[in-house]
Amino acid sequence: MKKEKILLAGATGYLGGYIAKRLKEEGYSVRLIVRNKKKVNFNDQEFEVYEGQVTEPASISKAFEGVDVVISTVGITRQKDGLTYMDVDYQANVNLVDAAKVNGVRKFIYVSVFRGDQMRHLQICAAKERMVDYLKASDLKYCIIRPNGFFSDMGDFLDMAKGGRVYLFGDGKLKLNPIHGADLAKECVRMVATTDQELNIGGPEVLSQNEIARFALKALAKQPKITHLPDWVRKMVLWFVRTFLSAKTYGPIEFFLSAMVMDMVAPQYGTHKLEDYFLAKAKVE
Ligand SMILES: NC(=O)c1ccc[n+]([C@@H]2O[C@H](COP(=O)([O-])OP(=O)(O)OC[C@H]3O[C@@H](n4cnc5c(N)ncnc54)[C@H](OP(=O)(O)O)[C@@H]3O)[C@@H](O)[C@H]2O)c1
Repeated sequence: MKKEKILLAGATGYLGGYIAKRLKEEGYSVRLIVRNKKKVNFNDQEFEVYEGQVTEPASISKAFEGVDVVISTVGITRQKDGLTYMDVDYQANVNLVDAAKVNGVRKFIYVSVFRGDQMRHLQICAAKERMVDYLKASDLKYCIIRPNGFFSDMGDFLDMAKGGRVYLFGDGKLKLNPIHGADLAKECVRMVATTDQELNIGGPEVLSQNEIARFALKALAKQPKITHLPDWVRKMVLWFVRTFLSAKTYGPIEFFLSAMVMDMVAPQYGTHKLEDYFLAKAKVE
């Protein structure tokens, strides 16, 4: 049976890279839409690569010819282009939805954030959830993926551990289940052929922040030194960044400081273990 054609936006990023590979493994015909072809860091011979700016609707419409399903992981994480979450996480994805509609795309799969709908007061979630609302109202078939923190983001613990000490807010007992890109990509690709409209998803292991800190310190062969900071310090930092930094700069800090004081346990998927990821990362750094 002929497999559908997928247009993937975000393939130059952490999750998008895994989704591209997974789509190929499952025999889909894949077109990548990227803003700079030179950033495609895997064998691009296997993929059709279309260069276009998702922030500029006129430059992307041709990418949708013959496309059945769109998957978008486009969003600001560490990019410093001077654009806001509303410019990218909302508007650029809206541009993709509009072009998908005009070109008769069957389904749109969008990656938001676990519990994003409960955190609309944060810059990043406000933009992502506005995009979710837009997609839901678009008449396209859709699936919203709501993942917990990625292993790539847990690198912040490893970075702190390099200094020999990890700082946590509160008693460190709050739990989360971060997920590896490959495990998440597998489920995102599975959504192409299901009728599910939403997927809340985390990794296989539920860990406390203390456990994650210990894994990071152990991977770097450091003594387990963890400092627990009182919550007023977090609130003060939050106030400081919101008051004195531009929204573009404080967005990621705001999300991190807010998620750190929530239990973030999502339905469990996948097989990759965070301890192994830290050990492998510590070896190459
Ligand atoms: N990291 C986490 O823990 C986490 C958790 C839950 C949800 N999410 C969400 O999942 C999505 C994927 O995350 P990720 O870690 O894979 O992010 P990533 O590695 O930063 O990838 C983001 C993708 O978006 C593209 N992008 C960003 N700004 C753009 C712009 N102005 N114009 C065109 N393309 C742009 C990037 O292109 P370039 O490579 O050209 O910059 C990249 O392909 C994001 O929306 C993120 O918010 C992340």
